[in-house]
Amino acid sequence: MKYIDVSNGPQSASAIVMGCMRMPELDAKQAENIISTAYSLGINFFDHATCYGYGEAETRFGEAFAKTGIPRDKVYIQSKCGIYPKRKVFDWSKEAILTSADEILSRLKTDYLDAFLLHRPDLLFEPEEVAEAFDILYTSGKVRSFGVSNLMPMQIELLKKYVKQPLVFDQVQLSLDQSQLIDQALYMNNKTTDMAYSMDGSLLDYCRLNDITIQAWSPLQYGFFKGVFVDNPDFPELNEVLGELAETYVVSKTAIAIAWILRHPAHMQAISGTMNPVHLTEICDACKVNLSREEWYRLYLASGKFLP
Ligand SMILES: NC(=O)c1ccc[n+]([C@@H]2O[C@H](COP(=O)([O-])OP(=O)(O)OC[C@H]3O[C@@H](n4cnc5c(N)ncnc54)[C@H](OP(=O)(O)O)[C@@H]3O)[C@@H](O)[C@H]2O)c1
Repeated sequence: MKYIDVSNGPQSASAIVMGCMRMPELDAKQAENIISTAYSLGINFFDHATCYGYGEAETRFGEAFAKTGIPRDKVYIQSKCGIYPKRKVFDWSKEAILTSADEILSRLKTDYLDAFLLHRPDLLFEPEEVAEAFDILYTSGKVRSFGVSNLMPMQIELLKKYVKQPLVFDQVQLSLDQSQLIDQALYMNNKTTDMAYSMDGSLLDYCRLNDITIQAWSPLQYGFFKGVFVDNPDFPELNEVLGELAETYVVSKTAIAIAWILRHPAHMQAISGTMNPVHLTEICDACKVNLSREEWYRLYLASGKFLP
């Protein structure tokens, strides 16, 4: 496993995070097994959100984690709030943030969160209210560090005007197929491709400039998490290069796809979503791979991009 010292945040955090969005698919024993497998592979960081299975993911994790015997202080547990599917709103009001935090802690059966993220932008958000809620959560010891997800630089700047605690993470979609975070820099000022459009306000450079660690969600998915591109006949060129490099490094194609994210000098975390212990073991082999510049670009180009 590779580990990252998050600036102003968790130290020695595993570069591969176990995302728990799909945990409601598991029964209690399977959940215990995948958490134990993750920990034995060196994963010490677990990602949740209030909306994953309407809280079911956190409940399943809380019960299963207690049975694993893993000491609480050996892992980082993160969750997110702000998406309320049943109410059909995004809500960053002080009351919603504080209520969510208490509910999360109760479902996860823990006294504190190592990181607490705002999941998606509430279009009616008032940064003063967020700041008040974060102050209460921080001073009470319920939350140790804060961050955001799917947020653009100016939204983060607006929050930072009021929020006292550092915002240490931005969790955004990034995979070899969904590489828009990276593309726009390459095609700037190029009218021949839609990839030139800035869809996130230069978030990647902003995060690097401001010591915000990017967490890449759905690292193996194409589209809006529609399915995996690995071994998918719709991605022949990409799979050919993934296969070739997998042979070179004696790892799986999924490990190469994750290694492509970890190779980026922004020192990102990749949030893996598999609930299959064999798949997770294969993915963690990504940490044995250090792609050369040529190999990194070969993968990027095989995923449908071009050098202008
Ligand atoms: N912040 C946000 O807005 C946001 C949005 C979405 C997700 N997330 C976070 O990101 C995490 C990961 O998302 P994700 O689950 O879409 O990511 P992913 O790791 O790209 O995809 C995992 C899915 O791919 C399947 N899969 C098929 N073949 C596989 C193989 N060979 N190796 C590994 N997986 C394979 C897995 O099934 P098996 O279980 O059968 O392997 C699972 O259903 C979530 O758990 C959540 O924590 C955040």
